[in-house]
Amino acid sequence: MKKVLVTGGAGYIGSHACLVLLENNVEVVVLDNLCNSSLESIKRVEKITGKNISFYNADLMKPEDIEEVLQKEKNIETVIHFAALKAVGESVAEPLKYYENNISGTINLLNAMEQHKIQNIVFSSSATVYGNAKTVPVDETAPTGPTNPYGQTKLMMEQILTDCSKAKNLNVTLLRYFNPAGAHNSGLIGEDPEYPNNLLPFVQQVAAGIRPKVMVFGDDYETPDGSGVRDYIHVMDLAEAHYAAILKMSEVKIYNVGTGVGYSVLEMIEAFKRISKQDVPYEVGPRREGDVGILTAEAKLIKEELGWSAKRDLDEMIQDSWRWQSQNPKGFRA
Ligand code: NAD
Ligand code: UFG
Repeated sequence: MKKVLVTGGAGYIGSHACLVLLENNVEVVVLDNLCNSSLESIKRVEKITGKNISFYNADLMKPEDIEEVLQKEKNIETVIHFAALKAVGESVAEPLKYYENNISGTINLLNAMEQHKIQNIVFSSSATVYGNAKTVPVDETAPTGPTNPYGQTKLMMEQILTDCSKAKNLNVTLLRYFNPAGAHNSGLIGEDPEYPNNLLPFVQQVAAGIRPKVMVFGDDYETPDGSGVRDYIHVMDLAEAHYAAILKMSEVKIYNVGTGVGYSVLEMIEAFKRISKQDVPYEVGPRREGDVGILTAEAKLIKEELGWSAKRDLDEMIQDSWRWQSQNPKGFRA
C-alpha cells in the first residue's frame, strides 16, 4: 500500500484529496497547522470513508515539526504539498507573510524530504502563474507572469522544485489548478471561508441569505456578456487528478488542471439561481484590480500523459456546493 504525506490536508482541496486517496487504499498522513482549516474536516473524511488518517498539528515553518512527523511515519513514498496561504488580496497587503510561509515552508519541507530520502512530490500550483494570458485557452508552454505576490510565490516554488529535481533526482509534478469549486456529494466536506474571496462561495452565501448581494466585478470585459470568464473545476475532479499524478511520477512535469470550458460571472449566478431555486441578487460594480477578463485551460496534456480528465459538469458542481452550504450554514464551526 502506498503511503502519502499530505501537507495542508485539512484544507478545502486537501481534505477532498485525502478522501480520494483513502478510497484508493492509500495510507494518509496529514501535516497541517490549521491556520485556515479545522480538524473537523479530517474527522468527516474519516467518517465518509470509514478509514483513519494520521493527523499532525504541525507547522512547515518549524523544521522540528516536520522532522517529528517524518521520524514517526516511516516509508512515506510521496508528498502532496497543498499547505500555503492563498488569499490574493492579503498577499498584496502582506507580501512578506506570503513569501515567508509559502517559500520557507516549502524549503523546510524539501530539506526534510532529502534527509528522509523521499523522492516524489506533487505540488499545488495555480493558473495565476500565467498572469495576463495573451491567448486562451492557455497551455503549459504559455509565458508566465504573475500579477501579485501570491502568484509570485507559486512561480518561485515551481522554480525551486524544478532546480531540486535536476540536482537531486526528485520526481516533481506541478499541477496548475484553474478555479476549484464544488464539494463532495455527501455534503459533509466543502469550502469553509469566513469571508469568501472567490466567486462561488460568495454566491452560495448570498443564496443562503448570509450576505445581501453579489458584487459583479466589471461587465466591460471582452467576453460575450462582459463579465469575467473562468474555467471552474469540480474539487472532486481536482482531487482525482492528484491520485492520477502520484501513480505516474517522473522528472519535472507541469500540467494544467481545468476543463477547457469557461463560464462568465453572470452565467454562474444564473446557474446557481436555477439549481438552488433561491434568489441571488447582484449588482455590477467596477473591475477588481489585478483581474483578467478570461482565463481557461488547455487540458490535453494531463489527459494524454496521466489519463485524467474532468468528469463532472457545472450543474453537479453547483448542486454539490449548494448541498454543502445548506447542510452546513456555519461551515465546520457549527
Ligand atoms: P486552504 O487554505 O483551504 O488549505 C491550505 C491548508 O494549508 C490549510 O489547511 C492551512 O491550515 C494549511 N497551512 C497553511 N500554511 C501552513 C503551514 N505553514 N504549515 C502547515 N499547514 C499550513 O486552501 P485550498 O483552497 O485547499 O488550497 C490548497 C492549495 O491549492 C494551496 O497551495 C493553494 O495555493 C492552491 N490553489 C488553490 C486554489 C483555490 O482557488 N482554492 C487555486 C489554485 C491553487
Ligand atoms: N468575481 C466577482 N465577484 C466576486 C468574486 C469574484 O465578480 O465577489 C469574479 C472575478 O472578477 C472573476 C471570477 O469572478 O472574474 C472568478 O473570481 P475568483 O476570485 O473566484 O477566482 P480568480 O479567477 O480571481 O482566482 C482564482 C483563485 C486564485 C487562483 C486563480 C487562478 O482564487 O487563487 O483562480 O486562476 F490563483
